[in-house]
Amino acid sequence: MRTHYCAELDENDIGKRVTVAGWVNSRRDHGGVIFIDLRDKDEVVQLVCDPADSAQAHKVADEVRDQFVLIASGKVRARGEGLENPNLKTGKIEIVVDELKIENRSRPMPFDLGDEKVNEEIRLKYRYLDLRNQKMYNIFKLRSKAAIATRNSLDEQGFLEVETPILTKSTPEGARDYLVPSRVWPGEFYALPQSPQLFKQLLMVGGFDRYFQLAKCFRDEDLRADRQPEFTQIDVEMSFCDQEDVIAVAEKLIRDIFTACGKGDKLPEHFPRMTHKEAMEKYGSDKPDTRFGMEMVDVIDIFERCDNEIFSTIAKSPKRNRIKALKVPNGDNIFSKRQMKGFEEYVRKFGAQGLGYFQMKEEGLKGPLTKFFSTEDLDAIIERCGLEIGDVVFFGAGEKKTVLDYMGRFRLYLAELMDIIPEDEYRFLWVVDFPMFEVEDGRLKALHHPFTMPKLSEKGTLDFEEVEEIESIAYDIVVNGVELGGGSIRIHREDIQEEIFKLLGIDEEEAREKFGFLLDALKFGAPPHGGFAMGFDRLIMLLAGTDSIRDVIAFPKTQKAQCLLAHAPSEVDSEQLRELAIRVRKTASAE
Ligand code: AMO
Repeated sequence: MRTHYCAELDENDIGKRVTVAGWVNSRRDHGGVIFIDLRDKDEVVQLVCDPADSAQAHKVADEVRDQFVLIASGKVRARGEGLENPNLKTGKIEIVVDELKIENRSRPMPFDLGDEKVNEEIRLKYRYLDLRNQKMYNIFKLRSKAAIATRNSLDEQGFLEVETPILTKSTPEGARDYLVPSRVWPGEFYALPQSPQLFKQLLMVGGFDRYFQLAKCFRDEDLRADRQPEFTQIDVEMSFCDQEDVIAVAEKLIRDIFTACGKGDKLPEHFPRMTHKEAMEKYGSDKPDTRFGMEMVDVIDIFERCDNEIFSTIAKSPKRNRIKALKVPNGDNIFSKRQMKGFEEYVRKFGAQGLGYFQMKEEGLKGPLTKFFSTEDLDAIIERCGLEIGDVVFFGAGEKKTVLDYMGRFRLYLAELMDIIPEDEYRFLWVVDFPMFEVEDGRLKALHHPFTMPKLSEKGTLDFEEVEEIESIAYDIVVNGVELGGGSIRIHREDIQEEIFKLLGIDEEEAREKFGFLLDALKFGAPPHGGFAMGFDRLIMLLAGTDSIRDVIAFPKTQKAQCLLAHAPSEVDSEQLRELAIRVRKTASAE
């Protein structure tokens, strides 16, 4: 229907007769001559409907309203002096229309396309209109480029794209499952995959050597700005590999994607690494934002000598507890007394008992706590934290996990408050050497999943003094404080797998019931293997510079896991339920 997309038109086309097609962005009547901004997928061109040139076009243009669908033909001409629009690719030209057709009309829009403040619920309800926004089109163009680059890169690296089932059995990623009732097997359910984890391992047992998939994953968990119930992973698995091989594949993949999206120059040659322990101790997080400093410093040994019983008691158990210092350069000149008080309230929300601080003045350290320390120890604090006049240093003291958590959050909170985080920068980081287990509610849990290979002791066993000491061959890729992906080398030996299940308190029956098919497969010559998965939506968020995952998914769900457009989830009719042998019991809250 068209000869050109708008973006294809420029001064080289002056004098040509062209046909364009699209939607009316805006219409202005300038005393007889009507100007229309016509938009197609990614550009706008100005149409001029002058009765002197074409009575037909002018008559039709008179009827035109915003978002009408038009097909317009006419001659391209240069815009008049001073009338050029530098914001448009087509800003130097316009089309003098001689034939105009209204292909479809539109009701008044429920919201203005360009309006940044419009309520997101309305945008989601009318998502197809929201997608007409140029900004949205650009994001999906980027997403498409990234998906193609993913396929090309992994194909080049010898990977095979394989689809794994959507109707399947529970997979162990730690969230709740979405269940699908079976009609043929009343009372039985499929689970939608939280990831293709088990199947990709089976593909390795199947001898495929290198697998990948742009995999849809489903997790029923609390939603946040970077989480959706249904999301996409770049999922990768390979055989006969160690951690270095997997990291090399992932780094090349990321580089290829960034290059395809025009951001290759933003990446370093290799991504730095940090152990999980260092990340926790210095940043209070397993996904540190390393775009700025302000690392936490350990001062527990100095506090042990102080005269304050609370601190010295905490300091007596350096294994269980932590006393961490966080220096804020020039903080004394930035924050008011009232703000400092507010900071204490902030950390209390995350379990802090209080928040001590010293100010570095010309005459030395000042603050309510100084009286508990000897001059030598105050000097030791100054030296260890590298304090200069004008700096403030905050202290968190207490149980290790709590202190690291609230001080880590506080670090981010302060950095945002001070606006010191560079925007247009990508700080990639591999976090490695994760602990194999974590204790949750008094129970041992696998930090990644129970198929992650532990680092064996020198004797080749799992004999460690404490299970918490056991590390796994697991790695996360973190960018700007966001967990982009993670993976591990898997257990391919039955004896180690059994021992891990034993430590996790998973008995044989439970293991068989949950992952029997994987355990069986491991008995038939499973090769050493490992892999990773990267959140594809999160990757696009990074590339597009947006902080909402809903911006990068064409038809996303709300924070309450609803699709406002299609009205899902929704009730189904009783006949369908009867077929599935399901009776719905309404709880008070559902009513
Ligand atoms: P993991 O559970 O860490 O690992 O998931 C990998 C990556 O997927 C993304 N992600 C999400 N993105 C959007 N919404 C969600 N709800 C969501 N949940 C996870 C994150 C995350 O880093 N099978 C393992 C990988 C492996 O070991 O190979 C797995 O799924 O970016």
